[in-house]
Amino acid sequence: MNDYNKINGETIFFGCIACPSNHVRAPTIFNKFFIEKKINALMIPLDVSPENLSDVINGLKKINKFKGMAVTIPHKLQLAKLCDYLSESAKATNAVNIIKFDNNGLIYGENFDGAGFVLGLKGEGYDLNSKKILLVGAGGAARGISLALGKENVLFLDIINRTEKNAHDLVNLYKNYCSKNNIKVVNDKNVDYAKYDLVINTTSLGLSENDELPFELKYFNKNCLVCDIIMNPSKTKLIKSAISRGLNFHYGRHMLDYQFILMTKFFSII
Ligand code: ATR
Repeated sequence: MNDYNKINGETIFFGCIACPSNHVRAPTIFNKFFIEKKINALMIPLDVSPENLSDVINGLKKINKFKGMAVTIPHKLQLAKLCDYLSESAKATNAVNIIKFDNNGLIYGENFDGAGFVLGLKGEGYDLNSKKILLVGAGGAARGISLALGKENVLFLDIINRTEKNAHDLVNLYKNYCSKNNIKVVNDKNVDYAKYDLVINTTSLGLSENDELPFELKYFNKNCLVCDIIMNPSKTKLIKSAISRGLNFHYGRHMLDYQFILMTKFFSII
């Protein structure tokens, strides 16, 4: 079990909550895993507007065989507030990318984005040692990734974000959590793009075909690795731009692929 024909009264359910849900990859990966491992379970996409988030979660946690869900844009910060227990990384980031319900309807939140992103870079052969990094965005994913990078021996981390205040909040969080001072906010006026070894898009720009580029690549140096965390489409406008400029690139899917094992353990399904 379970291909879709074998859903029965014992099937347990997981969700993948997003808005919109068109881009999510977790259901595809989890359902393939359930079939391979003969686990009687199913993950379904849940397209939920932010204003309905709390109602939906309060309902789902009362369904006995609904065990939890992967969480993505734009719910990571709001859903953390609805959790009864948060892991260390979820607490530090105020964001969750996965939650589970216990038998009493209590909600446990975890955030594997950062760990998954760093595992993905290393797994694909990238050495983070002494690297100069530009992180674009300051939302839930950016927080997780910055803290995970803070555990590595990177040289420094610069943050650029549409809303500068959110970038400053991220910097304060990092300093508290990592006890390191190798992070600062930069903006379009003072940033020297040519100096970075690694640039990471954590904004939602690229999810939609019509989105503008999150940033221009023309000022980056030839050795800079361009990373996106958007999984679908896999070749975002940013990745296409990196390819056309002959720059190295790193797909968004690696972040989820490399945290998948952590997620299955969290759901207690391996
Ligand atoms: P996630 O949990 O996936 O990180 P999020 O918490 O909603 O999602 O964060 C989205 C990020 O994308 C934020 O950095 C946001 O910038 P703001 O802090 O200014 O809101 C950024 N973002 C979203 N839409 C954007 C846009 N049109 N242009 C630039 N940045 C954008």
